[in-house]
Amino acid sequence: MGTYFWISFFTILIQLMTATVKSQQLIESQLNLPSCPGPDPTLNYRPVIGIVSHPGDGASGRLNNGTDVSYIAASYVKFAEMAGARVIPLIYTEPPEILNQKLNLVNGVIFTGGRVKDGLYFEVVKGIFQKVLEKNDAGEHFPLLAICLGFELLTMIISKDNNILEEFSAANQASTVQFVENVKLERTVFGRFPSVLIKKMSTDCLVMQNHHFGISPERLQANKDLCSFFRILTTSTDKKNKVYVSTAQARRYPVTAVQWHPEKNVFEWRSSQIPHTEDAIQVTQHVANYFVSEARKSSNKPAPSKLLDNLIYNYSPSFAGKAGGSFDEVYLFSPRPALSSL
Ligand SMILES: *[C@@H]1O[C@H](CO)[C@@H](O)[C@H](O)[C@H]1NC(C)=O
Repeated sequence: MGTYFWISFFTILIQLMTATVKSQQLIESQLNLPSCPGPDPTLNYRPVIGIVSHPGDGASGRLNNGTDVSYIAASYVKFAEMAGARVIPLIYTEPPEILNQKLNLVNGVIFTGGRVKDGLYFEVVKGIFQKVLEKNDAGEHFPLLAICLGFELLTMIISKDNNILEEFSAANQASTVQFVENVKLERTVFGRFPSVLIKKMSTDCLVMQNHHFGISPERLQANKDLCSFFRILTTSTDKKNKVYVSTAQARRYPVTAVQWHPEKNVFEWRSSQIPHTEDAIQVTQHVANYFVSEARKSSNKPAPSKLLDNLIYNYSPSFAGKAGGSFDEVYLFSPRPALSSL
């Protein structure tokens, strides 16, 4: 009995000691694990995108009739966020010095869709575009994505011809894109698209168009300024079989112009024409990833505290779709109330 007790006792003791040694070895081996490889130190992993607001409430006055109100459809904000960026609204009614300060906080800009092509809005977009070129000329990689109206405004600004646009019948229509023959897609928005998806884009209607204006490849190529600035990547065909430029890439700048709406496929539900297939969703995801990867090449890293008062998180979107607007959610911006009332 005594002997049996002691044998059991020692067996348990040895087991306990072995377990302790094993667990110590485990902890040591965990500590000795090589740490995660550091990310590429030349890139900026906290990119911030500036999005220019557009006149109106984006809902034909249903949300706000103020003459100075402006909006950003939330789909553009989510589009930047889905690829790992934060957003600062560039409210076009703000004084130029404020807009300039905000431009110095961001790593790239989006010009959204919309309809206004004149007045203060046009001048502000033109001024920001010039700053984008200046920043790049000064050696800072600073991308711009111009969507729909943004594409049209760039066409007018670069050609210095406010009548250069042509009318097209491409409202509320999903379309294909036709890649220019022998076009090189490396280092363009399509550079990292899987080749299967590129093929599908030319046969399936995976991109959403919603415009009444545009530019034909012939007219773009006939204009010296446009032709030396842009390389045409794709064309599309409107409801009357007229061909327009649907994607263009700047030759010497990280500037991409799309006549179509990459943000809508994932985030807008008001029109039944918007494609929401898995392929269409992937198109949006690849465009967002491309644009934000370009913004990560911007070395501009302002103090994090400077961002806080300007981030989109200071605003809440309104459910415009429920009110009958053409976007599901919009961010609204009213100029700050006059201080004279204090
Ligand atoms: C804006 O004006 C229109 C037309 O007068 C009106 O129907 C709408 O309710 C107004 N919107 C708001 C938010 O007051």
